[in-house]
Amino acid sequence: MVYEILRVMHFAALFVVAATVFIHYIAFGPQITREDARNLYRVDLAFWAASGIVFLIGLVLWLGVGKPASFYTANSLFHTKVGLFLGMLLCSIPASKFFRLEGRYPPTPEDADIKIETPTMSRSLVRGKLLTLAVIFMCAYLVARGVGL
Ligand code: HEM
Repeated sequence: MVYEILRVMHFAALFVVAATVFIHYIAFGPQITREDARNLYRVDLAFWAASGIVFLIGLVLWLGVGKPASFYTANSLFHTKVGLFLGMLLCSIPASKFFRLEGRYPPTPEDADIKIETPTMSRSLVRGKLLTLAVIFMCAYLVARGVGL
């Protein structure tokens, strides 16, 4: 029962991670408004909160409940999954710094008119997250079925 509940919570948090990565992929263009920056900052906070929950529940599913820990520890595909996840978090830091810088100004009536150039490297890293997430999902599906053991 606990195992099933945690799996569902893992999926629910994953849904938020996937949604925030997709919103950033679509909305984080070469030029955004200050209003966009504020909204993208909020989306980024949701990304980090959901990623923390994904990681914590993932650790419990790995080391605590359900299948024996060795079912995952011995599987290189599982380590690829967790490694890609941590890599995705690292690649999120430059954009998070930008959103934090530009997204925390107090709202003004001109916000929708103030144009901000976005850093190219942050944008490229954000775009790479969607592909990384797709590969992680594939790894997760295979690992749960024992492929890679
Ligand atoms: C964005 C990152 C992640 C994604 C997309 C993801 C995706 C998934 C999916 C789709 C499943 C269900 C697999 C299935 O039953 O078909 C799953 C289960 C699981 N995940 Fe994750 N996961 C992520 C991060 C993590 C992390 C960081 C850990 C460990 C620290 C982890 C540990 C687990 C474990 C142990 C299971 C249970 C698999 C089973 O039922 O055998 N996951 N994950």
